[in-house]
Amino acid sequence: TRAILGRRNLILVGLMGAGKSVIGRLVAQQLGLPFIDTDTEIERVSRMTISELFTAYGETEFRALETRVVKRILRSGPKVVSTGGGAFINDKTRRQIERGGISIWLHADLEVLWERVNKRDHRPLLKTENPKQTLEKLMQDRYPVYARADITINSRDVRKEVICAEVLEAV
Ligand code: S3P
Repeated sequence: TRAILGRRNLILVGLMGAGKSVIGRLVAQQLGLPFIDTDTEIERVSRMTISELFTAYGETEFRALETRVVKRILRSGPKVVSTGGGAFINDKTRRQIERGGISIWLHADLEVLWERVNKRDHRPLLKTENPKQTLEKLMQDRYPVYARADITINSRDVRKEVICAEVLEAV
């Protein structure tokens, strides 16, 4: 897989709770490549949490910052990159991703996503009256866009080792 990648990055996209960071880290480990999470990088450069950024500047500003950070991260490769759920949905950021490497959509069902995001409250987009319904709406809106990724991992198994192996096999 490493040889096939050349200098291209492996970029994980998909909704929050799909396991992009966990799987990304594992895939990177297996390939002996660096791993970087775009949200973590945004928090590092801004010295604010994602929630704080949304509150202070709003989503539009956050997306602009996200585009810049993703662009810089993808300039060099190879590495494994996990992106925030909205990155691939934003036209500018998606173009960076399409240019920067191989995109992999981690597809998951509502119940799996919900179980994972429900436990934490750091997702600003889910601070609504009915977060599960919001998540479902995000699925409906975004799945056609995620489907444009180079590879879709439609995993029925939730074990991270299994999903990691599927990713490596698919590339
Ligand atoms: C977002 C997903 C989050 C984070 C921000 C917006 C989205 O990342 O970037 O809250 O638009 O789906 P995760 O997918 O890592 O939770």
